[in-house]
Amino acid sequence: ASYDMGGHDTYMHKEISEQPDAVDRVLRGRIDDRFSTVHLGGLNLDPREARGIRRVKILGCGTSYHAGMIGASLIEGMARIPADAEPASEFRYRNPVVDPDTLYIAVSQSGETYDVLAAVQELKRKGARVLGVVNVVGSAIAREADGGVYVHAGPEVCVVSTKCFTNTVVAFALLAVHLGRIRDLSVTDGKRIIEGLRRLPAQIEEILKGEEDIKALAAQYADAKSMMFIGRVRGYPVALEASLKLKEISYIHAEAYPASELKHGPLALIEPAMPTVAIVPDDDLLEKNRAALEEIKARSGRILAVAHREQEKADHTIIVPKNEDELDPILMGIPLQLLAYHTALALGRDIDKPRNLAKSVTVE
Ligand code: AGP
Repeated sequence: ASYDMGGHDTYMHKEISEQPDAVDRVLRGRIDDRFSTVHLGGLNLDPREARGIRRVKILGCGTSYHAGMIGASLIEGMARIPADAEPASEFRYRNPVVDPDTLYIAVSQSGETYDVLAAVQELKRKGARVLGVVNVVGSAIAREADGGVYVHAGPEVCVVSTKCFTNTVVAFALLAVHLGRIRDLSVTDGKRIIEGLRRLPAQIEEILKGEEDIKALAAQYADAKSMMFIGRVRGYPVALEASLKLKEISYIHAEAYPASELKHGPLALIEPAMPTVAIVPDDDLLEKNRAALEEIKARSGRILAVAHREQEKADHTIIVPKNEDELDPILMGIPLQLLAYHTALALGRDIDKPRNLAKSVTVE
C-alpha cells in the first residue's frame, strides 16, 4: 500500500509526527469516568473470568515484544497479576506448560507475523485463551484470537514501528486499568492513570517540538561505532526498543542492558568511543540511576540522558514531560525515535526500508 507522505520526507517522520493523534484514537470512546475504568468492546472476557486469571503471558516479536514487556509491567503493577513477555518464537519451541488460568496475549502490528500466529495457533490447539493486541483490523492474528484490543495507530508504512509501538503500550495501559479495576486497582488510582493517559497527546506534542535539539544531538553521536542503552525496570524495555531502532535504521551497533547489570559485565565496554543513552525518570529509582551515570562517567563514557530534569553527570540531557510513573516509559521512548531517525539521516541511510528487513515477517 502507498499512502501520502503529507509533506514529510519519509514515512518514519510522518508516523513519528502522527503520534499525538494516534494516541488520541486509541483512547477514544474507551474511558468510563463514572467508574474510573476502561471499556474494551472486543475483549470477550467477563469480570468473573478476569478475576480468575492467575498469570499473564505476552508474546510478540521485535518491537512488539518490547511493547509487550512494558505491557507486562503495566498489568502486573495495576492488576497485580504476575505478568511477563517472551519472544513468540522462543515460546513456541521450548514446549511451554500451557495453563488454563493463564491469559495469553499476542502482540502484533501487522497481525501477520508468522512466529506470533503459530504461537497463537499452538496455544489455541491446547485450549488456552488468547487475546490479541493488534493494529491491522481483520488480520490473521486478530481473527485467530478469542478477543482483544485494537491499537488504532492507523496504517504504518515505514519498516520500523514508531506510532504503533506507542499506541500498543497505551492499549496495554488501557487493558491494565480495565483488569485492575475488576480486581484491586482503587478508584483513585484508576482515575490517576486515566488522567495521565489523557495528558499524553499534548505531552508528545511538546516532545516533538524539541526535534531540532535532538537533531543537533544526533549529529554529535552519529560517529559512534557502538552505543550502550541503559534503563531500569520500566526504563529497560525503553532502552531495548531505542537500541533496536538505532540498529535497524542507522546500522550502528547498540547494546541494551538493565542499568543494574552494568557492573556485572558491560561496564568493561565503557570508554569515550562508546556513548551511553540512559533512561533516567524521576521516580523511586532516580538515585540508583544516578549512581549508574557516575560509574559510566568515572570510565570517561559520554552520556546522553533522557530524563525529567537536567542530569549533571550526563553530557547532554533530553528533558521530557513527567507523567504518572507507570506511563513515563511511553514518553521517554519518543525522543529516542527522533534520535535514531536523525542519526540514520545524518548517515544517509534508507530510513523507510532498512537493508535486510521486511515490514512483516510472514515466514518462519
Ligand atoms: C521492524 O523490523 C520491527 N522493528 C520488527 O521488529 C517488528 O516489530 C516485528 O517483526 C514484529 O512485527 P509485528 O508487530 O507486525 O508482528
